[in-house]
Amino acid sequence: MFSHLPSRCNALVIGASGGIGAALCDELQALAQVERLYGVSRRGQGPATFNLAADLATDEGRAELARWLAGQPLHLVINTLGLLHGDGIWPEKRIEDVSAEALLKSALVNAFSPALCLQALWPNLTLAKNALVGHLSARVGSIADNRLGGWYSYRAAKAAQNQLNRTLAIELGRRLPGVWLLTLHPGTTISDLSTPFLGNTPKDKQFSPQRAARQLLQVLAGAGAQHHGGFWAWDGQPIPW
Ligand SMILES: NC(=O)c1ccc[n+]([C@@H]2O[C@H](COP(=O)([O-])OP(=O)(O)OC[C@H]3O[C@@H](n4cnc5c(N)ncnc54)[C@H](OP(=O)(O)O)[C@@H]3O)[C@@H](O)[C@H]2O)c1
Repeated sequence: MFSHLPSRCNALVIGASGGIGAALCDELQALAQVERLYGVSRRGQGPATFNLAADLATDEGRAELARWLAGQPLHLVINTLGLLHGDGIWPEKRIEDVSAEALLKSALVNAFSPALCLQALWPNLTLAKNALVGHLSARVGSIADNRLGGWYSYRAAKAAQNQLNRTLAIELGRRLPGVWLLTLHPGTTISDLSTPFLGNTPKDKQFSPQRAARQLLQVLAGAGAQHHGGFWAWDGQPIPW
């Protein structure tokens, strides 16, 4: 399926207990190309073969991840970490709703942690030489595409994630040119993260996690060097930053 990767490869799903993450694990389990499937989340549960419970928004959690995978090449890494509501956070409608605490929490999970996870996994990508990394962002993180406003913390955090992804992609191009990083928008997908807000989306525009996972894997499988460093929707179309 992944022509850029070897015939037997190791895959890691970060956020393997989540809606899209668990569905990605199910799809990857069914692929002969995937030899070892690792999953991480705070709950440490999910359909991966090997599961780790770690809070990847902390230095300790990421150090544990690095120790757990030490010496293993990773050919496919999909990071689905995300926070839209919960933990005292709710998407803001007006500037009066915005707090420094929510801005910081959202940025920590949505923006900083995916980049810092990649830092922790750098040795595994170095061992793999050829690898695909998919970082799940969101279309609402696009500044060019922002027509509705609102959702200050989540939008800002995803925009920051996009900038970090772009910067990481440039460094990968210099240091690990066989590792391609794609920033991905899964489309509106039924999950714990999206459920309270699905009322705004027509039913035929809501993906099941299984469909979203299959579509994201198709985008990754079809990626060429020209996709490295770009922001791509579930249907393979580019999204303006
Ligand atoms: N669903 C949508 O409509 C939609 C649309 C656009 C973009 N996205 C993006 O797609 C990604 C996946 O979304 P989803 O709908 O599948 O969300 P989800 O069901 O809430 O899954 C998020 C996953 O991240 C894990 N996680 C969160 N904080 C963590 C932490 N500190 N350490 C380790 N794991 C952590 C959660 O597991 P634990 O709670 O067990 O830690 C869970 O496995 C997110 O980046 C989201 O922003 C989703």
